Amino acid sequence: MGGLTTAAYIGASVLFILSLGGLSHQESARRGNLYGIVGMALAIIATLISDQVSGLGWIIIAMLIGGAIGIYFAIKVQMTQMPELVAMMHSFVGLAAVMVGFASYLDPANHVIGVEKTIHDTEIYLGILIGAATFSGSLVAFGKLRGIVMSKPLHLPGRHYLNLAALVLAILLGNSFIGSHDSALLPLMLMTLIALAFGVHMVMAIGGADMPVVVSMLNSYSGWAAAAAGFMLSNDLLIVVGALVGSSGAILSYIMCRAMNRKFVSVILGGFGSATSSSAGSDEEQGEVSPTSAEEVAEMLTNANSVVIVPGYGMAVAHAQHPISEITKTLRAKGVEVRFAIHPVAGRMPGHMNVLLAEAKVPYDLVLEMDEINDDLGETDVVLVIGANDTVNPAAAEDPGSPIAGMPVIEVWKANTVVVFKRSMATGYSGVENPLFYKDNTRMLFGDARESVDAIFKHI
Ligand code: TAP
Repeated sequence: MGGLTTAAYIGASVLFILSLGGLSHQESARRGNLYGIVGMALAIIATLISDQVSGLGWIIIAMLIGGAIGIYFAIKVQMTQMPELVAMMHSFVGLAAVMVGFASYLDPANHVIGVEKTIHDTEIYLGILIGAATFSGSLVAFGKLRGIVMSKPLHLPGRHYLNLAALVLAILLGNSFIGSHDSALLPLMLMTLIALAFGVHMVMAIGGADMPVVVSMLNSYSGWAAAAAGFMLSNDLLIVVGALVGSSGAILSYIMCRAMNRKFVSVILGGFGSATSSSAGSDEEQGEVSPTSAEEVAEMLTNANSVVIVPGYGMAVAHAQHPISEITKTLRAKGVEVRFAIHPVAGRMPGHMNVLLAEAKVPYDLVLEMDEINDDLGETDVVLVIGANDTVNPAAAEDPGSPIAGMPVIEVWKANTVVVFKRSMATGYSGVENPLFYKDNTRMLFGDARESVDAIFKHI
């Protein structure tokens, strides 16, 4: 590798690290994105002009086709479909690692001997193993998020033994592949099939509510697959980038699991996320709900000193963020303190709510994390829960028998009055009943969140 390429790779690596740092805060996210774009452009140009690449014409044609498809989907995709798009992209990374692995094995230019061969074979074997599991797992995750594969967890009899058998077989096949003197394409292909089946089985066993964790876990796998491809191709930048993606995906999965009070291993082993029934009992046992109207809520808001808005997945579906931003502006102009409370897993992906509120031009300093605002809720006059459900469920704090017991939630019920915006009495994503709706200080505003917010705005 030439000195110029190395320098460009180091520059790109630094830009990627700055990009990750920038993406961790809303104020710096745009800058982070820009660093990422510049870093990637630099990496691609440096690779194309390096001595590692031949057949430039083909590469440019492939880049034009891939770029056009990418731009088309990026423009077309809705915010609510973002996790699907991400899952699909991970499957491409997995597939690329598998293809690089086979190409690297079959390329006569790569035929080495001795210790070098053992190392190269190990890189190929691990790259294809991780890549194939990422590819098939991500496809199933895409299918589940899209609703074309059932979101209920599939539990085959003896499923943990099946996974164990797959692991043992992969080790045995690896033993006969790595360092073998003859062509060892058969064990490599058998392992690929096993890894593909393992990826499908692993994600099929995980319920719908845990899918975002699975997507970020597959993100991590795709990073490690890319790092393995970097080893196979002796490309340092790919190793660095793969390791960055792999470790940041793993950290994100851990943060999400903590926010849901779930153990990472139990998410991976699957089971949660099927329709669960709460120990809280039926509607009749819980009492009556008190419906309210847009006019009443408008009056409550104008008479309040402090208002906290808790958005959830329903706000994203209804596209209610723009009128909410308008209401916020109007109330603040009238001297009402308005703040937003964001649960770490509100919506369907990390940062979902922050992105929507930023898009609607809600000032960043009004948007607080759950931990920053929970203590203030006791002194809040009105809380508006807009299309959120699981993330404000008091059963998590009060009912040790609830499937979400122990999950940290936004304690909205401590406020003077809580208004819940939703269309029906349906449960949230986890399928758990919500006793918040039956509390004395809760008012239900039924209907599409966008229509309700528009109506309130008119009355204000
Ligand atoms: P949910 O608990 O899914 O509740 C969303 C609520 O929005 C539903 O009760 C639904 O009730 C309502 N809704 C849907 N469309 C609406 C519309 N057009 N207008 C008004 N209301 C509407 O959402 P949440 O509180 O944001 O919780 C997120 C869930 O996803 C949690 O279970 C969490 O564990 C899970 N999860 C998220 C993540 C990440 S990273 N975000 C990761 C893993 C798991 P109606 O149908 O009655 O309207």
